[in-house]
Amino acid sequence: MKSKHILKKMTPYQPGKQTEDVKKEFGLSRIVKLASNENPFGYSGKVDDYFSGDKPALNIYPDGYTSELRTALSNKLGISEHQLIFGNGTDEVVQIIGRAYLYPGVNTVMATPTFPQYKHNALIEGAEVKEVPTINGYHDLPGMLEAIDNNTNVVWLCSPNNPTGGLIPRNDFFDFIEKCPSDILVVLDEAYFEYADTQIQPDALQHLNKYKNLVILRTFSKAYGLAGLRIGYGVANKELIPRLDVVRGPFNTSSIAQKAALLALEDDNFINDSISRNNKIKQSFEQFLNSIGWHFYDSQTNFLLVSTPISGEKAFQYLQENGFIVRPGEGLGSPNTVRVTIGNEADMRELQEILYQMHLKVNEGLLT
Ligand SMILES: Cc1ncc(COP(=O)(O)O)c(C=O)c1O
Repeated sequence: MKSKHILKKMTPYQPGKQTEDVKKEFGLSRIVKLASNENPFGYSGKVDDYFSGDKPALNIYPDGYTSELRTALSNKLGISEHQLIFGNGTDEVVQIIGRAYLYPGVNTVMATPTFPQYKHNALIEGAEVKEVPTINGYHDLPGMLEAIDNNTNVVWLCSPNNPTGGLIPRNDFFDFIEKCPSDILVVLDEAYFEYADTQIQPDALQHLNKYKNLVILRTFSKAYGLAGLRIGYGVANKELIPRLDVVRGPFNTSSIAQKAALLALEDDNFINDSISRNNKIKQSFEQFLNSIGWHFYDSQTNFLLVSTPISGEKAFQYLQENGFIVRPGEGLGSPNTVRVTIGNEADMRELQEILYQMHLKVNEGLLT
C-alpha cells in the first residue's frame, strides 16, 4: 500500500511506560510521574463537583462550535468569539495549522530543542523543517529571522519554550514580528502562559488585529490541570480562523471536556494557588540544584531542564529505579539533561534526596 513516503522514516510518539508497569518492574510501592508537565495539584474543585452531578447526554454529539466555552473564554480574554479555534488538546491545533499551511515545496522555521509536534506535523505534510538552535535555552530570534526565506510559510515560537523553559521577552517578540514578513504565519505557543511572569511576557493577545499573521496557542492541560480531557485552543484575528476551521473535525472536543474547561476557567483561585505553590517549590528546587552545582536553564514554567553529570538516559534510569519518572533530554533534542516537572512539596523533597545520593555516587565514581 502507498502511504506518504515520509511515514516510513518516522516513528509514532512513544508514550512513557505506564506507572503500574514501572512499579512491577522495580518492585516499588509508589511511583511519582514528573515527566509531562502536568499540574501536581490536580484541577479545580468545581470540575469535581460537576463529575459528581449531572452529566451531558453522552449519546448526543458535542456542540461542534464549543459555544458556551467560546463565549466565556472570549469574555475572559477580551476578544471576539470569532477569534477562537478549539482543539483536542493544543496538539490538535498544531496539527490543524500544519494541514492548513504546510505542504511540499514550503518550509517552516522553529527552534531546537522545542516542542516536537511542530516538526512531526510539518514532516508529515511534506514541508522542509528549518531548525535554529536555542541559545542558553532561549530562542535565537535574529537567527530565526535569517532562516526565513521566500518559501517559508510558518514560524513556530514556543514561549515559554518546552523543554528549556525560556520565555521570549515582550520587546524581543514584537521586534521579531515587526521584522517577519506579514505573509508568514507566526505561531506563538503559550501552553505555559499562566506560569510566566506577566511583567516580561508579551501581551500578544492585545495585538491580534494589528498582526493578522499571528496565532496564539493555549491549553487547559497545564496550569488548569485537565490534560486527561484533551482541550486547548488557538486565538487569531477573525479572518484567519475560518482557514483553520475548514481543517478541524466537526466534533473535535468532547462535551465533558468543554464543560470541565468552562468550570475550570471560572476558578481563578485554583490557578493562582497552583502558580504560587509551583513558584515556591521551583525556587527551592533551584536552590538545591545550585547547592550540588548542577546547571539548569531559566524557566518560566512548571518544569526545569537540568544538566546531568551522566547521560540524561542514565539519570532517567536511576531516578526510575528510585520511584521517579522524568524525561531524558536525549529524546527531546537536549542530550545530558533531564526535564523535571515541578511536583508537590513532599514529592520534590524526596526527589531532592535521591538526586543528592546520585550526586554523591557520581562524585565517588560509582555512577558513570
Ligand atoms: C509547548 C507545548 N505546546 C503544546 C502542548 C500540547 O498540549 P495539549 O495537552 O493541549 O495538547 C504541550 C504539551 O506538553 C506543550 O508543552
